[in-house]
Amino acid sequence: MLKKLNTALLAITLLVTANIGSSFAAPIVVKFSHVVAENTPKGAAALKFKEIAEQKLKGKVEVQVFANSQLFGDAKEMEALLLNDVQFIAPSLSKFDRYTPKIQVFDLPFIFNDMKAVENFTSSKAGKGLLTSMEDKNLLGLGYWFNGMRQISANKDITLPKDVKGLKFRIQPSDVYNSFMKALGASAQKMAFAEVYQALQTGVVDAQENSWSNIYSKKFHEVQNTIIESNHGVLSYMVVTNKKWWNGLPKDIQKGLAEAMDEATAYGNGISNQKNEEAKKAVIADGKAKVKTLTPAQATEWKKALTPVYKEFEGAIGKDLIAAAQASNK
Ligand code: LMR
Repeated sequence: MLKKLNTALLAITLLVTANIGSSFAAPIVVKFSHVVAENTPKGAAALKFKEIAEQKLKGKVEVQVFANSQLFGDAKEMEALLLNDVQFIAPSLSKFDRYTPKIQVFDLPFIFNDMKAVENFTSSKAGKGLLTSMEDKNLLGLGYWFNGMRQISANKDITLPKDVKGLKFRIQPSDVYNSFMKALGASAQKMAFAEVYQALQTGVVDAQENSWSNIYSKKFHEVQNTIIESNHGVLSYMVVTNKKWWNGLPKDIQKGLAEAMDEATAYGNGISNQKNEEAKKAVIADGKAKVKTLTPAQATEWKKALTPVYKEFEGAIGKDLIAAAQASNK
């Protein structure tokens, strides 16, 4: 009898131990939330991060990627990250100005001539410094992800700054873009990305500005009259994580995730130009909106109209940082 009892006790102990063991072995689930389509530079980079991280940390980590504002939209994602409800997000640099005014340098009109200049700046000491500039707010930047240059679209025929006077623009939550529209005599409405298509379609706003890949993947060109290839700004992202969560990770997991992030960054930034080129071609082929390229003289008119914006933000951003960004055009 006693022998039977002992055997039963041993079996129970083994079962309990096995269960504890398996719960320790369960993978850490990390969530990556973003607002764009999967077939965009950011969408593709997030999926690449999942693939590499799960391969490097087999059985230890599961990465769940939520695209198209499925889990959190613009208004909630930063808050959700700080509450650790999601572990990675990659908002547009225009969405960080509440956390560090210096980051507004990226939104200054025509500050970068092209994506090469953006790459030069983000890999410079000044650019890299911004990744850790929000640590006191518990936000740690792990890298810059590129989308592309921004273009302007409207529900009427436009070419010059005077043509957008009086139009209502959807803008990202950026004070620089608010002043940008003011300088043009247009009005600005800050709005989450997920609401833009409907707002354009129903006439809540007349115009918007974004990269080709966002315009195409969200079908903005189907509800706009004209798109001008203005290249007036850059759409780039910072991948951020919750610093406390990140620092509390087991060292091997943190190392694997950091490596996966670096590889996904190189992959996404490597395909970003091509993805935007393809999107531009698809918009033109679709023929719903007229696509215009500006002559150098027309581009100069846009630049002139927008110079007052620099004066307004010079103090908050710092003249040195503006100069460093401008120097990256060489
Ligand atoms: C927008 O709000 O227009 C963009 O920031 C969306 C994105 O993440 O590219």
